Amino acid sequence: MTDVKKIAVIEGDGIGPEVVAEAIKVMRKTEEAYGLRFDFEYGLFGGIAIDEKGTPLPEDTLAMCQKADAVLLGAVGGPKWDSNPKELRPETGLLGIRKALGLFSNIRPALVFDCLKEASTLKPEVLEGTDLIVVRELTGGIYFGEKFRRDSAGGEEAVDTSTYNVQEVERIARQAFEIARTRRKKLASVDKANVLETSRLWRETVIRVSADYPDVELEHVLVDNCAMQLLRRPASFDVIVTENMFGDILSDEAAMLTGSIGMLSSASLGEGAFGLYEPVHGSAPDIAGLGVANPVATILSVALMYRLTFGYHEAAEAIERAVSEVLDAGYRTSDIAVDKSTALNTSAMGDLIVAAIR
Ligand code: IPM
Ligand code: MN
Repeated sequence: MTDVKKIAVIEGDGIGPEVVAEAIKVMRKTEEAYGLRFDFEYGLFGGIAIDEKGTPLPEDTLAMCQKADAVLLGAVGGPKWDSNPKELRPETGLLGIRKALGLFSNIRPALVFDCLKEASTLKPEVLEGTDLIVVRELTGGIYFGEKFRRDSAGGEEAVDTSTYNVQEVERIARQAFEIARTRRKKLASVDKANVLETSRLWRETVIRVSADYPDVELEHVLVDNCAMQLLRRPASFDVIVTENMFGDILSDEAAMLTGSIGMLSSASLGEGAFGLYEPVHGSAPDIAGLGVANPVATILSVALMYRLTFGYHEAAEAIERAVSEVLDAGYRTSDIAVDKSTALNTSAMGDLIVAAIR
């Protein structure tokens, strides 16, 4: 009997439920086509959980995720909760779930789809061949350091601290080297070692770990320079590994190379196979409920889940192939359509992808 995988589903806010519904359709289709079996359990998270349970990350949702083999997440947040105090913000739930599930590594591929090159603001000849992955450290650094306010001679003062220890750098570095090994064997470690002590420790540690990966070519790039090189020579990057805050910023920049944030998937991983999978885009409150969101990022996140958590490589490839076929045939949701009048809605796009899976 096929082993049944438990999937914790967190639809979240805004367009989250709409894009997750299409991803589930795709998973159901692969159950038939590839003999896979999934058991879906749904939990509240983010703004909707604040409204219904008074907290962005309810205990039963966290427990559901801890028991699952993988988590599929839509998106969280929206203007309704933007002025809430910190404990009652969807973002706090997101940081909390990453920490509680030990998801220290965030993988964000930025792949330029040939047929969508015209959607980018960069020249096609600069983009040619761009296929990179940002590996972002996700549970350390300034995001999780001590934060407080105090009085100072200049009035109220705010403090955010950034801390990294060797173990935290080592595990993310190893993961990035491992990923690079499966690709073009090039790793760019991004830091600010000319200024920051955490970056100096980062660089020393990455250099030490690199001894175990002599087959991977390592370069160190300062973060400001990296921001520039991403626009100048994006195709020369393969895997980029960096700390939490730099990774937040650079992964958004990398996403824009592709011109279509609606297409980009992500995985958050810890030590084992367990992972949380979500589109890179947010909850898009402006189009929520209209049924026009692009489901491709969430569908491609399922392909990542199949590869990285379950090792279902054939089914992952089938999903990616189906997405390419549908795009190559010219089908578009409005975010990526040149002629908006011909754009498909969310479920029509999902149906076409499902139909293209064989
Ligand atoms: C992301 C988001 C989050 C982050 C926010 C919403 C807390 O920007 O996943 O990149 O900064 O990590
Ligand atoms: Mn971000």
